[in-house]
Amino acid sequence: MQIFGATKRATEIESSKVFAKELMQKYNIPCAKSTSFSDYKKAKEYLQKQKPPIVVKADGLAAGKGVIVADSIPQALDALSQIMEAKAFGAAGDRVVVEEHLQGKEMSAFAFTDAHAVIPMVSACDYKPVFDGNQGPNTGGMGSYSPPHFMSPALAKTVKEKIMEPAVRAMHEEGRAYKGVLYGGLMITNNGPKVLEFNARFGDPEAQVTLPLLKTDLVDIMLAVIDNRLGQINVEWSKDACVGVVMASAGYPGSYKTGFVISGLDSLDKDVVVFHAGTKLESGQVLTSGGRVLTVVATGKNLAEAREKVYK
Ligand code: AMP
Ligand code: GLY
Repeated sequence: MQIFGATKRATEIESSKVFAKELMQKYNIPCAKSTSFSDYKKAKEYLQKQKPPIVVKADGLAAGKGVIVADSIPQALDALSQIMEAKAFGAAGDRVVVEEHLQGKEMSAFAFTDAHAVIPMVSACDYKPVFDGNQGPNTGGMGSYSPPHFMSPALAKTVKEKIMEPAVRAMHEEGRAYKGVLYGGLMITNNGPKVLEFNARFGDPEAQVTLPLLKTDLVDIMLAVIDNRLGQINVEWSKDACVGVVMASAGYPGSYKTGFVISGLDSLDKDVVVFHAGTKLESGQVLTSGGRVLTVVATGKNLAEAREKVYK
């Protein structure tokens, strides 16, 4: 069987924040200064001496809820207690990372890699809060666009040379050769890009706005990654912009009703694609069946044009 993606040992770059931080520190990959703890009392003592804002992260996967950006030390201590004492995320909270708060512009960078060649994808920004203007509770992602408005050839080069390539080389040296798509969640600070986290996959909803810009056949890239010949492939990207807006059920991320008929899917403009997430087909009709129902994606010559098409 041929599989495109990282091995379980390599995906630890996403599934353990302690592992990822140790890797970045050992190989000088720029990231927030941090300390890891497996002892609740020691973590508490350390936090009491810090200045807010400060970030507390559960080591393991916590459905996107394991990172608390605390504006005060009491809030950070409460988060620590939830994670390590109350075990709100189970064993994912056996260890925590406490790290400095970074300021800047957030973006998601991606690269295809066969553990040797590293080929950047176009990057994207995603929006996690449920309401317009980045307001309200966090969700799995309400929309995304590519490329980020602040992206430049110089920034792309720095991200590739200082983050993505060193990370792939580091994983190789650690005996955890990384293949597939590497996702760097980055903060672009005044001192350059720094890693917030790595993920071992395409982003959601970032994939919906990056893959439409890929001109090369994705299957050719995947096969080249599997066969360790990615370096021989010429990967081409469109210069267009792409915007994706998630349509969600009223009430999401809280409780919501489903089963509503979706119409209009057959009268979309050219350049508009709909990706289904929480939908189902029943007696020839498409019905809503989840919180995030679908993503409407449009491409255009620039972000303004793509945005206009997507909202239309
Ligand atoms: P993560 O899962 O590590 O990407 O964290 C989730 C979110 O928390 C990120 O998308 C950021 O918005 C925020 N975040 C994480 N780490 C930091 C940090 N060191 N400084 C500021 N914000 C952060
Ligand atoms: N868009 C964030 C993620 O896929 O984790």
